[in-house]
Amino acid sequence: MSANPSATLNVPEVSKPVTLPTMPGSLGPKVLDIRKLYAETGMFTYDPGFTSTASCESKITFIDGDEGVLLHRGYPIEELAQKSDFMEVCYLLMNGELPNKVEKTEFVKNITYHTMVHEQISSFFHGFRRDAHPMAVMVGVVGALAAFYHDSTDINDPHQRLIASHRLIAKMPTIAAMAYKYSVGQPFVFPQNRFDYAENFLQMMFSVPCEEYKVNPILAKAMDRIFILHADHEQNASTSTVRLAGSSGANPFACIAAGIACLWGPAHGGANEAVLKMLEEIGSPDKVGEVVKAAKDKNSGFRLMGFGHRVYKNYDPRAKVMRETCNEVLDVLGKRDEPLLKLAMALEKVALEDDYFVQKKLYPNVDFYSGIILKAMGFPMSMFTVLFAVARTVGWIAQWNEMIEDPSQKIGRPRQLYTGAGKRSFVSLDKR
Ligand code: CMC
Repeated sequence: MSANPSATLNVPEVSKPVTLPTMPGSLGPKVLDIRKLYAETGMFTYDPGFTSTASCESKITFIDGDEGVLLHRGYPIEELAQKSDFMEVCYLLMNGELPNKVEKTEFVKNITYHTMVHEQISSFFHGFRRDAHPMAVMVGVVGALAAFYHDSTDINDPHQRLIASHRLIAKMPTIAAMAYKYSVGQPFVFPQNRFDYAENFLQMMFSVPCEEYKVNPILAKAMDRIFILHADHEQNASTSTVRLAGSSGANPFACIAAGIACLWGPAHGGANEAVLKMLEEIGSPDKVGEVVKAAKDKNSGFRLMGFGHRVYKNYDPRAKVMRETCNEVLDVLGKRDEPLLKLAMALEKVALEDDYFVQKKLYPNVDFYSGIILKAMGFPMSMFTVLFAVARTVGWIAQWNEMIEDPSQKIGRPRQLYTGAGKRSFVSLDKR
């Protein structure tokens, strides 16, 4: 038998069975190639939420949701989080291989020298209300980068694409920190090239001109690890948004702004903020039973934030590393008795033993512990999803570049099952 047997589909009202080729990946399930289905049957497939649809071919990230495995270019996330650093992971995602020493130095230099933003961007910030959600500011400012960097918006020029990629990775922490500083009424802090990526972000967030600021190396390491854990996650909602936006030929800044807008939702990157709000509302471990009961009741409209995942039907491997990092950070900060951590652990224990969660394979995801760490490090809740966006930018960029370089790339254009009114004649206003 052939290694890639075709499937045969009998379609009502179509005389001949339709042959659908299968395509193997290097890991994971094969896919059924349905590209000719409409031409041969006059029918579309129906898959809201894309639960069974592979929208593209990709070599960047692999997830085995049943086993709780996450690989970037083949390397397990646990190893990258422990042995690598965010700059290396960025290089890996973008280029397919880990950098050697020379390549790493060159890449770090390229990112470091793009961290400043055009001075006019500072003025642009002043148009926002001070109480704007920083994610709203991020969507606006990142989208506006296309108005400042005209020399890197031609997507057909690989060099311009590279410069735009470097600019986006480099400027995201600067813009994120500016969004925070603006919201608290403090002056913007310039990036400093002597710091690494995570250190630089911490100093732009937390230093003020009137005091010396020393970056705590353990917190910088934790920040770097948090960035690694969020760097890419194959075809999730925001990445698919970036690809779809980019499929029309839109410029990279516009595409990443679209990704940020999608990430903001509480079912996606907004969950880290939602988890912390939920824990604060629960308040004490003796309410855990009540909360788990509400999460199981479909009529309550309440879900346990930070639990469940479309792909993982096992413990999210990022959540395991995040849990360890959480303990380390709280130790360093002398906050081991942080009541929210105790509450989160109590909630996790009850949920993991509960039949509903066990049967539906609902486990903690990456967002469950990240908010506790970020809060302990001094980030306000509204910045949590912004940090996710800073880290995910490289994943979006790598996936966007991969799409542009794919010769089979077409504009994304899903079809629909129309259930609206049939054709009818217009009725004039006096007859309605
Ligand atoms: N609490 C209670 N019940 C849940 C939860 C939850 N957190 N998540 C899923 N379920 C139930 C859901 O009600 C459904 O039950 P039934 O089959 O009886 O209708 C079943 O589990 C499957 O859920 P689904 O909504 O069909 O699954 P999905 O793949 O569409 O949703 C999810 C995935 C992440 C949106 C969902 O699990 C969720 O809303 N979780 C809370 C939000 C969250 O933590 N999001 C962060 C995701 S990880 C970070 C990222 O990648 O962005």
